[in-house]
Formats: sequence, structure tokens, C-alpha cells
Amino acid sequence: MAQKISLTRYLVEQQREEGHIPSQLRLLLEVVARACKSISQAVNKGALGGVLGSADSENVQGEVQKKLDIIANEVLIEANEWGGHLAAMASEEMDSIYLVPNRYPQGEYLLLFDPLDGSSNIDVNVSIGTIFSVLKKPEGSPGVTEQDFLQAGAQQVAAGYCVYGPQTTLVLTVGDGVSMFTLDREQGSFVLTQENVTIPADTKEFAINMSNMRHWDEPVKRYIDECLQGKEGPRGKDFNMRWIASMVADVHRILTRGGVFMYPWDKREPNKPGKLRLMYEANPMSWLVEQAGGAATNGRQRILDIVPGQLHERVSVVLGSKNEVDRVTSYHTGV
Ligand code: AHG
Ligand code: MN
Ligand code: MN
Ligand code: MN
Repeated sequence: MAQKISLTRYLVEQQREEGHIPSQLRLLLEVVARACKSISQAVNKGALGGVLGSADSENVQGEVQKKLDIIANEVLIEANEWGGHLAAMASEEMDSIYLVPNRYPQGEYLLLFDPLDGSSNIDVNVSIGTIFSVLKKPEGSPGVTEQDFLQAGAQQVAAGYCVYGPQTTLVLTVGDGVSMFTLDREQGSFVLTQENVTIPADTKEFAINMSNMRHWDEPVKRYIDECLQGKEGPRGKDFNMRWIASMVADVHRILTRGGVFMYPWDKREPNKPGKLRLMYEANPMSWLVEQAGGAATNGRQRILDIVPGQLHERVSVVLGSKNEVDRVTSYHTGV
């Protein structure tokens, strides 16, 4: 039987042989993976662990926090703050950045996360996940400010997610393609189960919340309408639809078998660019998708080129199979 490659070994080899990651980044990714293991355990306990349901609080986005949103956020902070690899963290569930306390050594990395993605699926036992993005603290400044986080997604040095589904799977890029690791519960370790993940350029599957159709902009309506016309329409093929309402699970499907995912701007909130968050949802997912040969835009522009103006900035998202993303983008830009 072929030898199993653990995440630990994979990262050591990335550091040693490929020279892709410095040791501090390796440590950081190990710690994030450990935190995900612990979140996975809490998720699996469900009602038995008292982790379901809402907490009595709202986050900065105006969303009612679920107990598991808060638990996952705490697990990630506690796991990461003492290791010496980080300067600061930012999260969907925290209003402002979290500085590593003075009692611990300061590292050079910035960690951003959506601790629990797919909150509406927690209580109904549907796949949820954790999304993370790693940036380097800009050189020169002694302390850390929110400004230090406001870097385009193209500056990420690592990105990934962990999906808590029928299996717990960690998906990672450090800029050298995308690898997937499945949690071996008996061993308590993530095992490499797929390398060089590739998204086919063409697809017959789209993911969008169709209930918002009447609020979309014309280019999105046009694209979906053409898909819905199937074989008889201008696309000349039948399309299938999926919408899990957990971005992690929808993106995981796209990395596994292709497809296009969209959460577009809509008319109800004209001044809000979209629902999803640029820095800890769209950026890490866009980099993973690009690393797997797909594309990601906000309808007009490559997501990874957007320079954020604020930490919790939102963005319209179109990502997945390259030819479909290009088509949706061209419907917006007219080129
Ligand atoms: P979160 O649970 O982290 O707030 O993110 C939820 C996001 C994303 O995971 C998903 O694609 C989308 O919200 C679902 O939105 P709808 O409920 O509007 O379909
Ligand atoms: Mn939320
Ligand atoms: Mn989310
Ligand atoms: Mn979340």
C-alpha cells in the first residue's frame, strides 16, 4: 500500500524541498489545521455538545451569531495567539483586528478567517466550514493596524478552507496548486488525498440563490436565463443547479467537479457591492479557484486585484470554471 502523506509531512516537504514556505508559515498552517480539527469535533457533537442554536449577540455584519460562530472564532484565536507566528488576526465575528497579546512573541503573519461559514446550515446538519487567508505584515511598521490588512488578495501567501461534511476535508494552497487532505479520525491527522486539483474549463452546473432572481442586474439575469433555456436555448445544453448556502461546500463541489458559483450584487441594497466578504471569503476562495485553473471576478474585475478599503468589505462573486466565469464577466463588461 502506498505510504500515506500527512499534512505535517506535506508542509515539511513544501518547506524543505520546494522552498515554498518559511518555517513560521508552516507552523501557522499546522496550527490552523489543529484548530479546524477541534472545530470539526464540536460540529460532530451537535446537540450532544450543546453547540447548536443562536447566541444572544450580533456580529459587525448585523447577523445574529450562532453559538458555533463564536466557539469556532474562539478556537481559532486560542490556537493561534501564543505560537509566535502571528502579528494579528481578523475575523467575520470580530468588529476590529485582534492583536497578539504582549505576553506572547510577535510573528510576521496576519491571519484572516471566516470561522464558521454556512451558519444557516449548522442546525440542519448540512455541510459547513472554516475559511482562512494568510497575509504578510508589511515591513517597517512596529505595531499592527487595520491598514496593514488592506492588501489585495494577490498578496496572500496561503489560503484554504476546511469543510465539515460527511468527511472533514482541508483544502490548501501556498501558491503551488491546490491540495486536499482528509481527516483520519482514528489517527487524528489530515492525510493528503488529492494533489493538483483542477477545475474543468467548461461546465453544465451553476450555483446561485435563485430566490433573488428578481433583484439581480441584467447581465446575471441574462446568463442564468440562457442556462435555464437548456438544449433549446443559445447555450445548446441542459444545465443543472446546486445551492448549498455554505460557500465552502459550494466551492468544494466546484473544485471537485467544476461548475460556476455566483453571489451577485442585487438591487435591494444598491450601495452594498455584494453579500460575501472580500477578505475572508472571496479572496481565499478566489485564489484556490485560480490555483486550480478556474477564474474569479466580481463581474467586471479579477477579485484578487481588488484593493480593500476596509476590513469587512463586501464583494460580488463569480467563480469557478473558467469559460463560464469569462462569459458572465463579458456580459457585464461588454467585451
Ligand atoms: P456565513 O455563514 O459565514 O455568514 O456565510 C454565509 C454565506 C455563504 O456561505 C453562502 O454562500 C451564503 O451566505 C448563503 O446566502 P443565502 O442564505 O442568501 O443563500
Ligand atoms: Mn455570518
Ligand atoms: Mn461565510
Ligand atoms: Mn461565518
